[in-house]
Amino acid sequence: MGAAADPVGPELLEVSGVSKSFSGVAALEDVTLRLRHGTVHALLGENGAGKSTLMRIVAGVCTPDAGELRLEGRALRLGSPGQALAAGIAMIHQELNLLPAMSVAENIWIRREPLNALGLVRHRELRRRTRALLERLGVDLDPQAELGTLPLAARQMVEIARALSYDSRVLIMDEPTSALGERDAERLFAVIRDLRARGVGIFYVTHRIDELFALADEISVLRDGRHVGTSCPRDLTRRDIIHMMVGRELSSPPAATPVQAAPVALSAHGLSLEGWFCDVSFELHAGEVLGVAGLVGSGRSKLAETLFGIARPTAGEIRIGGAAVRIDSPPAAISRGIGFVTEDRRETGCLPGLSVLENLEISALARDFVRLGFVHAGAARRACAGMASALRIKAPDLRERIETLSGGNQQKVLLGRWLLLNPQILLLDEPTRGVDVGAKAEIHQLIARLVSAGTAVLMISSEMPEILALSHRVMVMHEGRVAGILDRDLATPARIMDLAAR
Ligand SMILES: Nc1ncnc2c1ncn2[C@@H]1O[C@H](COP(=O)(O)OP(=O)(O)OP(=O)(O)O)[C@@H](O)[C@H]1O
Ligand SMILES: [Mg+2]
Repeated sequence: MGAAADPVGPELLEVSGVSKSFSGVAALEDVTLRLRHGTVHALLGENGAGKSTLMRIVAGVCTPDAGELRLEGRALRLGSPGQALAAGIAMIHQELNLLPAMSVAENIWIRREPLNALGLVRHRELRRRTRALLERLGVDLDPQAELGTLPLAARQMVEIARALSYDSRVLIMDEPTSALGERDAERLFAVIRDLRARGVGIFYVTHRIDELFALADEISVLRDGRHVGTSCPRDLTRRDIIHMMVGRELSSPPAATPVQAAPVALSAHGLSLEGWFCDVSFELHAGEVLGVAGLVGSGRSKLAETLFGIARPTAGEIRIGGAAVRIDSPPAAISRGIGFVTEDRRETGCLPGLSVLENLEISALARDFVRLGFVHAGAARRACAGMASALRIKAPDLRERIETLSGGNQQKVLLGRWLLLNPQILLLDEPTRGVDVGAKAEIHQLIARLVSAGTAVLMISSEMPEILALSHRVMVMHEGRVAGILDRDLATPARIMDLAAR
């Protein structure tokens, strides 16, 4: 089913002339779009282009300053997400909105639990419904598992399951695959195709351009809050799409230069964390990028957390510059020159309530306190402002709270925080998650520059092109073990996948 099958009658959803400003800065200007029955309408644009804002308006989370929405021809006034859900519009949010202390089932069905005649929750029925939903998504999760104990990809699946549970006519997906590996993403695509065949209209926001060709019936691009155009993916190349998004040509990714026999900066020897990974050994040299590939759930993120002192290894040894060290907390890691960009910006990365500047300077300040005993506030601010412009962080004012930034711009702040510190060892877990193509190329160049200045980088990534573009060597993990470490010239996608999915 494609865009060719023009339905008669009104469109499923029409957005006309929608504008929205935040403290005087326009996030959306006069945007008009329509979503047809039984189609996937992809929405693209750079970080901060206004995609999430537009989707939040359609989902009743925020109200437009001007313009209107129509659902099957009827004007739609939404005062809350509840009203949107009642009208048949559900949304999978970019930043997950789940309750970590509650179970998977409770998170999905909160305030909609099946009740018995006495008004008590029918727990068995609750679990049954949850299992059925998760099965549809092809994920094997215990409905009673506490959400906060699950890896990010599993939490993303719970967020998706919750949106599906509403059986809505309009489904909005704001970067649903940004935390998923390829297998989970494929499974999700099958669910999307099935929903589309049943007439559901889907707005799909993504930065993964390749997904569009497999999925989208129509593509709309936003730039600086304005609608640039809508086309059919058949008529577009990847290059056309990027051009519509960024309006300029992109710099090509830097080729990793071979490392000269540099000293080992960080090494692990038989490192284990019970239940997560086992007997991991590797050496990371100064000026080297060691890519860490593997399926989601292969233990990669826990390994990084352990190297950064968030989790304590149950066996094995970590050495820095050849000497065994005990890293039992993040401050201990930082004082040894290690930086860590976490995969989960919402839970462990951003400091909500603090400004963009404060979020940027926090690590540098912590270190300057230790080293100098006092803070150069002015110098720190200038360095932060410089970093914000180097990363093209789109923020109306660096003194605004970090939550007001778009998801991709928050990610840039977290990366900038560690770049400012110039760490000797940098651990990156999905460093460009949710970052647009243009910013991604810039971030890759920043990493390459850092590495050529001698920083050792351990980079976890689920994106094969990213791994291949930056890594000198690739360590492939499989179910908590090192399946192999490949030199750059042997690291082909086929070889990596083969090791990752044995
Ligand atoms: N609650 C808010 N307060 C202030 N500014 C906001 C708020 N929400 C969004 N903005 C601003 O609106 C603009 C658009 O943000 P939006 O989140 O819609 O971008 P996006 O296209 O989804 O980007 P990304 O790809 O990074 O997710 C940004 O400049 C952002 O800083
Ligand atoms: Mg967004």
